[in-house]
Amino acid sequence: MADSKDPIENASRDEIMGLQLSRMQWSLAHAYQNVPHYKASFDKAGVHPSDLKSLSDLSRFPFTAKEDLRNNYPFGMFAVPQSKLARVHASSGTTGKPTVVGYTKADIDMWAEVCARSIRAGGGRPGDMVHVAYGYGLFTGGLGAHYGAERLGCTVVPMSGGATDKQIQLIQDFKPRIIMVTPSYMLALADGFERAGIDPRSTSIEIGIHGAEPWTEEMRREIEERFGIDAIDIYGLSEVIGPGVGQESIKTKDGPHLWEDHFYPEIISPETGEVLPDGEEGELVFTSLTKEAFPIIRYRTRDLTRLLPGTAYNMRRMARIRGRSDDMMIIRGVNVFPTQIEDLICANPKLAPHYYCEIRRDGPMDTLKVVTEAALDAADPVTRVVEAEVLQERIKIMVGVTVDVDVMEPGAVPRSEGKAQRVFDLRRK
Ligand code: DLL
Repeated sequence: MADSKDPIENASRDEIMGLQLSRMQWSLAHAYQNVPHYKASFDKAGVHPSDLKSLSDLSRFPFTAKEDLRNNYPFGMFAVPQSKLARVHASSGTTGKPTVVGYTKADIDMWAEVCARSIRAGGGRPGDMVHVAYGYGLFTGGLGAHYGAERLGCTVVPMSGGATDKQIQLIQDFKPRIIMVTPSYMLALADGFERAGIDPRSTSIEIGIHGAEPWTEEMRREIEERFGIDAIDIYGLSEVIGPGVGQESIKTKDGPHLWEDHFYPEIISPETGEVLPDGEEGELVFTSLTKEAFPIIRYRTRDLTRLLPGTAYNMRRMARIRGRSDDMMIIRGVNVFPTQIEDLICANPKLAPHYYCEIRRDGPMDTLKVVTEAALDAADPVTRVVEAEVLQERIKIMVGVTVDVDVMEPGAVPRSEGKAQRVFDLRRK
């Protein structure tokens, strides 16, 4: 912690909680006074911001769901007039209208601060060159990482996603120390280097800061081994700010610390909405403590994880996300997450770490097909058939469902250039 600059990063739990309480009182009042949706929902639940006397009183306030944001599209959840907005971002859902989020100048400043803090926790230092391969544009990944790296005093290469050959050339020529990119695209870059006859371990990159999609410890090992780097987890979501809601420390690599001085986390039971004690798995919920343009109160992220005590910082950590409730597949009554499949694929050196899942309806039953591909040295048809059977057996034992498995030729699974889509639902609705 000696390298921390921001005093709050060294604050005690009591100091953090004191700050959270006063900020939460401000944030609830700000939302209530300026966003008609919050006034109506608090009134309906019979609560007023002045009822919040302790942090645990937050549980009396209503949740906010993605649907509330959709119903107030585009700017209905904003707490400031448009003239006070410095920027908007939007995340396109799988269906319907995008979710639009807004930032005042002060919000952008806070976001840069938490992203700078994140990059520092991930091992970045002023003077480093940072290659940003998260998409720039309405997606928060590119610009969020960009402002954070600049704030820390780094040199930013605003590459954005895609154009793999160009990414490879610029990494070779500019020699960045840090890359910020989704884990799935990082693996596509590893393939790209190999195709170009370059050993990914020979590049200048020492640290990868990866997030924006669920990934597993096995995937971390794969990235670290192929590139010879430290691969660190960054977490965030547009509705809360973008990247930089939490960040894993390079020293402990034990899950993202949540920047609790700006974003207050809770874990709830997805079924009952009851707040669960730290350590228990449930749905992650956030309340913003300092945001002006787009205060968010008890937002249900649909991300499933646990809250854990701090290690590298006094702020709490979250366990690696098991998956999004939207991505959970229920196959003949068994809950299956893509991350469970990913673990088994990445653990097998005869398979490449690229995959997707297809759900179909076969009569009354839902069936799941896992499509992955062979590693370069296991590409012959016989080995592929054998490995498909091996994976099928492993999934049966470890996850408890029988699935079909296709092991395709190397390169046959489409590569993501940003967030990988892991689940394709082909059931006729
Ligand atoms: O993905 C923000 C971001 C950009 C985070 C770059 C990290 C790096 P959204 O597009 O709104 O925002 O998607 C948010 O992505 O609710 C999670 O389901 C998932 N997600 C983000 N980071 C992680 C992570 C950005 N480290 C949604 N591990 C979230 C697992 C993650 N899932």
